Amino acid sequence: GQSKEAELNPNRFLNIAHRGASGYAPEHTLASYELGEEMHGDYIEVDLQMTKDGVLIAMHDEKVDRTTNGSGFVRDMTLAEIKKLDAGSWFNKAYPEKAQPQYEGLQVLTLEEVIETFGKGSRYYIETKAPNVYPGMEKELVRVLEKYKLTGQNAQSGKVLVQSFSQESLLKMHRLDSEIPLVQLISYAVPAVISNTELEYMKKYAVGVGMSYTKIDRAYVEKVRSHGLLIHPYTVNDRADMERLIDWGVTGMFTNYPDVLEDVLKNK
Ligand code: G3P
Ligand code: CA
Repeated sequence: GQSKEAELNPNRFLNIAHRGASGYAPEHTLASYELGEEMHGDYIEVDLQMTKDGVLIAMHDEKVDRTTNGSGFVRDMTLAEIKKLDAGSWFNKAYPEKAQPQYEGLQVLTLEEVIETFGKGSRYYIETKAPNVYPGMEKELVRVLEKYKLTGQNAQSGKVLVQSFSQESLLKMHRLDSEIPLVQLISYAVPAVISNTELEYMKKYAVGVGMSYTKIDRAYVEKVRSHGLLIHPYTVNDRADMERLIDWGVTGMFTNYPDVLEDVLKNK
């Protein structure tokens, strides 16, 4: 449809609120996502883990330890157990200068709660994390997206992008629903090099690629774009880095500070 041109057009720069506006509020909570929307993020970034009883939740780590007051693996806990945890107080302790009383007691969100809360007016940039640990994660993701009518024709609008470091996970998504736009994340240990063959292969199933902004240069960005792929580096928090990457031609970026990126874009 018409919005495909809007969101997935390489000339439409995307401000992706990484774990929400996670520079200001506890990542992947309602507070963080709301702030991301208020700060003009185009997408809410949602990392997915799956509970013992098969529910997709918004969490970055496989263990709840870092971002809640609990401990252990998500895969060993039921949703009911996860829901008892406090996903906000850790932030107040870690960042006293940013602490807010309303962050205390925030719950871990399910993917369905996120979509129900923010609705069709928002856009979601969803990552399948540790897909090898959670067989059936992709199928469950497609079920949820279908339930909220975010697949098929609607998927083309770009309201949902699915990203993963796992090519296998993305190929699975592609087989389940070939219309959901996918982004291949790539982890580089050394300065990034990518071949034309790799790029052409990724183009068969993905609309774009993402990688650490610290590993790329202008030539890399130009090469990716010459193949007609979007390029969304992560996680860019400094103004000078944002400006340099925009100058190189990236088509969007992940940031913990969507307000800073919004400001950089306004002053371009
Ligand atoms: O998804 C892009 C970026 O978020 C990948 O790194 O570890 O923050 O999920 P991570
Ligand atoms: Ca992520």
